[in-house]
Amino acid sequence: MSFKVIQYDDLPDDLEQRLLESCDVTKVDSLDLMQGDEYRTVLAEAKGLIGVGQEVGAQFLDLAPKLRVASTISVGYDHFDVAEMTKRKIMLMHTPDVLTETTADMIFTLILCAARRAAELHSMVKSGGWTQMVGPEHFGSDVYGKKLGIVGLGRIGSAVARRAYNGFNMEILYHNRKVNQEAEKSFNARHCSFDELLVESDFVCLVLPLSDQTRKLMGSAEFDKMKPGAFLINGGRGPVVDELALVEALQKGKIRGAGLDVYEQEPLPTDSPLLNLPEVVTLPHIGSATHETRYAMAECALNNLLGALIHRETRNCVNPEIAN
Ligand code: DGY
Repeated sequence: MSFKVIQYDDLPDDLEQRLLESCDVTKVDSLDLMQGDEYRTVLAEAKGLIGVGQEVGAQFLDLAPKLRVASTISVGYDHFDVAEMTKRKIMLMHTPDVLTETTADMIFTLILCAARRAAELHSMVKSGGWTQMVGPEHFGSDVYGKKLGIVGLGRIGSAVARRAYNGFNMEILYHNRKVNQEAEKSFNARHCSFDELLVESDFVCLVLPLSDQTRKLMGSAEFDKMKPGAFLINGGRGPVVDELALVEALQKGKIRGAGLDVYEQEPLPTDSPLLNLPEVVTLPHIGSATHETRYAMAECALNNLLGALIHRETRNCVNPEIAN
């Protein structure tokens, strides 16, 4: 049987070929509902979806009554209405594991870049501003031996903790709903309250998904609790941080700097005040963006789609309870 599938993102050539061999594929640029009658006819028959980064909510699902599986090429799935999909018995698949180490590398890049002011000083050199030996006004902060507080010590958080503990002799604090015994054993990580973590950490590192509980978790009150020389690192989802509160905390010198890969709005608007703060390292949501890892994610998403469509496989399924 050939399943009707809507593909809304490019896949590497060999994977696209595999998809075409197994399914009846319609490729679109976006899942935008304004695309016209022809698209709506395809949507009405579609059993599967594969792509990344577009909102899928009740209004979209109303037009896709036969949908059985949606496979996102990402670990994050905050752009899907999971409750609505579960109600309609649609499996949602995602790509954990394959991006863990690459994303942890990027988060550690943010820690090092923010602490050593690498991006800011790089720009100074490139623009011809390096005219004499640097003095204290360009000094950074140590990373080795400092305290790292990780909010959200799951797969990626643990990979950051491993780098910090084994490579940089850092003390690891973490705040999670559940105790992470593996991390406590392997990295001597200490579970603590969110407040304690804010007060004690030299680097507050957020590795959280976006949910009603995590939205604007870091606001003015939380920045007030951080150490004056501390740094905020965000490698999870942008809206977990109240950006205006972050800007204010930096301008008032409440914290020393920040390393960000994610933002409330992406791409980051060109008039964002974050762009005027040299102590903020701004990367363009590149956590998993290497050739190897993006291929692995696309392959994982394709395997997830075919496994779920053909065999109702639940590996990497966000709502496995509906598979039976
Ligand atoms: C993910 O996989 O969720 C990353 O943030 C890339 O979108």
